[in-house]
Amino acid sequence: MGKDVIIACDFDSKEKVFAFLDRFTGEKPFVKIGMELYYAEGPAIVREIKKRGHKIFLDLKLHDIPNTVKKSMAVLSRLDVDMTNLHAAGTRRMMEAAIEGLTRPDGTRPMLIAVTQLTSTDQESMEQDLLIEKPIADVVMHYAHNAKLAGLDGVVCSPLEAGKVHERCGAGFVTVTPGVRFADGDIGDQKRVMTPAEAKRIGSDYIVVGRPITAADDPVAAYRRCVAEFVD
Ligand code: C5P
Repeated sequence: MGKDVIIACDFDSKEKVFAFLDRFTGEKPFVKIGMELYYAEGPAIVREIKKRGHKIFLDLKLHDIPNTVKKSMAVLSRLDVDMTNLHAAGTRRMMEAAIEGLTRPDGTRPMLIAVTQLTSTDQESMEQDLLIEKPIADVVMHYAHNAKLAGLDGVVCSPLEAGKVHERCGAGFVTVTPGVRFADGDIGDQKRVMTPAEAKRIGSDYIVVGRPITAADDPVAAYRRCVAEFVD
């Protein structure tokens, strides 16, 4: 498994995403399709971007009863994405059902990654809204370990947590980390950020980078800078 930079294509139409991807003439970046683009354009957008030769992380964060998740994952595996995800809060049984659904008849399947606690959830909202009173760091590690026991390939987490996840779940358990910013760039609404070079040092396997690339004056140059810092 190689380290890679995944571009978060948070656009609301196919025209916008294709105008963006058309700028990449020399390389085919790994792209993340999230709810916004998927709900705007449907599964056709996944097929079209795949046909252009990109790897795809379909970030739909499934969370439902095990049977529904299993059947939905079977549909997603037929879209031939490379990586997809769910909420670990759906329980181990839901995650195991997801793997079953995602596995194709020939035994292959896309990588499956769990969201632990969203980075927008803090200790206070976890205690007050979810009635979970343990320290959030312990909850994140417990959910990551559950994902590992269910047979998942890794978790989405803050780059600050990537090292600890590897300690608890093993070096081969993949960490996919958003919240990446250049040292000289805008932080925007992300609270805890790291540069691509720091994320590499701490052991992230994939960084997910949105606006530092999509909103750059020269997105291709910004992407290449991420690759140079993180992969090369
Ligand atoms: O533009 P930016 O680099 O902040 O984009 C980060 C991407 O990663 C967005 O698509 C965002 O939804 C996603 N993400 C995140 N934090 C998480 C999980 C996903 O920023 N905890």
